[in-house]
Amino acid sequence: MRTQVAIIGGGPAGLLLSQLLLKRGIDTVVLERRTKDYVLARIRAGVLETGFAGLMREAGVGARMDKEGIKHDGARIAHPQGQFRIDFKKLTGDHVIVYGQSEVTRDLYDAREAAGGETLFECAGVTPRDLDGEQPFLTFLHGGKMNRLDADFIIGCDGFHGPSRQAIPEAARREFEKTYPFGWLGILSETPPIDDELIYAGSERGFALCSMRHEKLSRYYIQCPLSDSPEDWDDDDFWAELKRRLPEEVAETLVTGPSVEKSIAPLRSFVCEPMRWGRLFLCGDAAHIVPPTGAKGLNTAASDVHYMYHALVRHYEDGDSAGLDQYSAQALARIWKTQRFSWWMTNMLHRFPDQSEFDLRVQQAELAFLEENEAARRALAESYVGLPY
Ligand code: FAD
Ligand code: DHB
Repeated sequence: MRTQVAIIGGGPAGLLLSQLLLKRGIDTVVLERRTKDYVLARIRAGVLETGFAGLMREAGVGARMDKEGIKHDGARIAHPQGQFRIDFKKLTGDHVIVYGQSEVTRDLYDAREAAGGETLFECAGVTPRDLDGEQPFLTFLHGGKMNRLDADFIIGCDGFHGPSRQAIPEAARREFEKTYPFGWLGILSETPPIDDELIYAGSERGFALCSMRHEKLSRYYIQCPLSDSPEDWDDDDFWAELKRRLPEEVAETLVTGPSVEKSIAPLRSFVCEPMRWGRLFLCGDAAHIVPPTGAKGLNTAASDVHYMYHALVRHYEDGDSAGLDQYSAQALARIWKTQRFSWWMTNMLHRFPDQSEFDLRVQQAELAFLEENEAARRALAESYVGLPY
């Protein structure tokens, strides 16, 4: 088999890139390790920057997002002394769109199938080869036999555990990592959201987040110890703990019900440099992870796709490889600013096991400063709605 651009990973980054390229007549093959149903069942992010939404429209898959996605002009921050609002619209003129990652992925698969784009599911042992030569290729097991896919370029959109990043020789790559001593326990429930905007709550008992997918589907998270597992939490325990972390007047309005999904995600900050090795380019979680506070994981994957897409179009349409040469530095410049934002939001709103009294006072001052100072709120809002590409 031969294609122009071979994409490893059929998550949001791989699918969005392949759909954008397909629109420009650039041929791609997507190799995915799992089944389509498995990918679609993963409940993950829910907040899209307008830059992401713009890419979806450019890929020709924005119609359902524009119809069913919910525009949010602000979000709330709650703390033990009260709560305040970050007015995105007033502070930045911009907004975010609440539309689940599983819906984004479904729309992208539907469009890819309708356009006849090739996606191979249940590929095992995908291995990138000859990346530093002129003719890279992939080998993989599919349909009971070994296959070979030749390509001009290989794009690693295979998430944090995929093989692409590991294919960059250790001596040529540097990894930066920070782990946090807690996770997020998340549930999805078929109940109306507690508010029409998201609530990020820093409390004495730890962080909580009230989010949503639509008017009858809510998504809630609470900070939990890394040693917990979802089975340790029955629904009643979860609702009781969530209420304890919200301001009383907000907690009173919570509508509870059975959870339809429950999972724990550890928190991590991670960056791999560079994001290019020869003819291999990394996009999304394959190259970096942010802690979820601030909703940047999926959005950062989209900014990589933006740079990668334009670099490839420039190469194929104008014969100019400058975009490819600049890709890693350009993507990393935005990623590090997003890393800073996600790390800062995480530090401001979570309880850390080793936090001193001094640390706690600084955390309270940070929240008070934000509440009182419009410039500080604007800085938060600018990062939240998404830095320019
Ligand atoms: P992925 O979505 O990970 O997609 C990678 C794809 O590559 C997968 O389909 C995978 O099956 C495939 N793959 C892996 N290995 C191979 C292989 N060897 N061969 C072929 N294919 C392979 N972000 C937020 O903003 N908010 C959240 O609440 C949030 N929650 C999250 C919860 C969890 C449990 C996780 C893991 C992430 C969460 N994120 C969240 C982050 C966000 O979902 C990711 O940033 C986003 O999915 C990145 O997209 P991606 O396409 O780069 O990677
Ligand atoms: C969601 C997840 C986040 O990490 C976040 O900051 C906001 C919303 C969500 O899943 O809805």
